[in-house]
Amino acid sequence: MTRAAGELAVAGWSHRHLLGCSLLSAEALRALLGRAREHVPSAWASVAERGERTLAGRTVVNLFFEDSTRTRVSFGLAARRLGALVTDLTLAGSSLSKGETLLDTARNLAAMGASAFVVRTGSSGSAAAVAEAIGTPVINAGDGRHEHPTQALLDAFTLADACGRTGFDLSGLTVAIVGDVVSSRVARSNAALLTTLGAGVVLVGPPALAPGSLSDLAPGVAVAHDFDAVLGGAHGVLDAVMMLRMQFERHKSPAIASAREYRLGYGLTAERAGALPAQTRVMHPGPMNRGFEIDSAVADGERSLIMAQARNGVAVRMAVLEACVGAAEAA
Ligand code: NCD
Repeated sequence: MTRAAGELAVAGWSHRHLLGCSLLSAEALRALLGRAREHVPSAWASVAERGERTLAGRTVVNLFFEDSTRTRVSFGLAARRLGALVTDLTLAGSSLSKGETLLDTARNLAAMGASAFVVRTGSSGSAAAVAEAIGTPVINAGDGRHEHPTQALLDAFTLADACGRTGFDLSGLTVAIVGDVVSSRVARSNAALLTTLGAGVVLVGPPALAPGSLSDLAPGVAVAHDFDAVLGGAHGVLDAVMMLRMQFERHKSPAIASAREYRLGYGLTAERAGALPAQTRVMHPGPMNRGFEIDSAVADGERSLIMAQARNGVAVRMAVLEACVGAAEAA
């Protein structure tokens, strides 16, 4: 069954673009996450059986001008599982390497008939600039240090699933996001999204990587520098600890004194994880640096949701593509 224009829309979602999390309502987010649940792996077979290729006849263009594994592949899989044609463009091999601007590239590809653009770049605000230049739906797959909304959606989905929050109400849950917070678009998107869904968020790192000003990101966001105190319950019992990679490539000067010192203060070691209450899950958006911000025993251990995050990313991106293309076609 191929759905016609206007039948694709996800009820409760009316945005043609997904650029960030800060302006999205809890109702819109819950509608999207509810649709994603119909796409989790156990449901893929049934979606295929129903022959429901909701994006058949559409073309999704992946514009990835910064390295990516999970995000790029899962957007490609999501679009293909819904029956769309997918075109991938990376910096090497595109005319951006000849000096063409991102906006001109996007305009030309829009002229060829794209139904949606998935955009990743190293520059904050560039996904919004593409959205402004063309009417085609734009999904931000990470713009510099700014936002990475589908990562936050898949994180919220995974956390809700692990905690039995079937309605995606995260009230009363507390999540610590730890490490190079200042560089992290994942942290910014999660701070907005998790608090909108009702959770409390504690951003943890040394002052240079987790400045106090980040508490302004959203109501319900706190900043802390003593990781062991946070793990010990200073902000309440943690439902999840989300570890972040040290993004050396985004720092102009050395961000930490030494790897050893950083790990001593902020690494989720097997010893630290062993002292956590059973309810505390461990998350990581990837890519991980094992033995640096997280020990292998923790990343691969019982409380780890890391593979569930990767798996759920496909379902969440299926829902996002349907919702944004559906909203544009219904307009
Ligand atoms: C992150 C990103 O690119 O923002 N990864 C991801 O998309 N899963 C985090 C990182 O690069 O460390």
